[in-house]
Amino acid sequence: MQFTYYGHATFCIETAGKKLLFDPFFTGNPLAKDIDIMAIQADYIFVSHGHGDHVADLLAIAKNTGALIIAMHEITQWALQQGCKNVHPLNLGGAKQFDFGKVKMVPALHSSVLPDGTYGGNPAGFVVSTAEGNFYYAGDTALSIEMQLIPMYAPIDFAILPIGDNFTMGYEDACKAAQFVATQKVIGVHYDTFGYIEIDHNKAMDHFAANNLALILPPLHTNFTIH
Ligand code: NI
Ligand code: MN
Repeated sequence: MQFTYYGHATFCIETAGKKLLFDPFFTGNPLAKDIDIMAIQADYIFVSHGHGDHVADLLAIAKNTGALIIAMHEITQWALQQGCKNVHPLNLGGAKQFDFGKVKMVPALHSSVLPDGTYGGNPAGFVVSTAEGNFYYAGDTALSIEMQLIPMYAPIDFAILPIGDNFTMGYEDACKAAQFVATQKVIGVHYDTFGYIEIDHNKAMDHFAANNLALILPPLHTNFTIH
């Protein structure tokens, strides 16, 4: 699998020749200043919840690419009302097979409202199982005991977890989350974008290392292989 990080919680995973874009936030994202959103390609767009720092460019990229939006039912309804044509609604606990693999929507402990005030349903994370490996994207969330269920659904090769604290769990709870989902490898997201969520990289790396886990702080706008 190929992973490209655009800062905050915006990333693209390429598997089986399909581009899966997560939580598109380019406009207003200080870590994605030079990105032309019309150049962003996607076959699928996953949305974890309705906050602006996760949906800022959802409508524009969905309309430009025709990508299928996979999100909580209320968010897909909103996207349809805003002129998007291609959506797949899920709700917590629901799984569906797509051409690149299977997606299961799992709970996140957070809040969810769209930028215009529309109710976004419950916030969510995703467990994605593919022929090239399985991963868990937690979305914005606190540490949750529910995460202990995730290894029952699929052995997790890597987890993409928020580590910035303040609005989500910080790196110490993310380390516990990695233990709950039984993965060795974490890609940290949702940090350093704004002052509230700046973290000490060395402390975070050391904390994971002390727990015999790998924390990857992904390089910006650079493709790398992950499995
Ligand atoms: Ni949020
Ligand atoms: Mn957020």
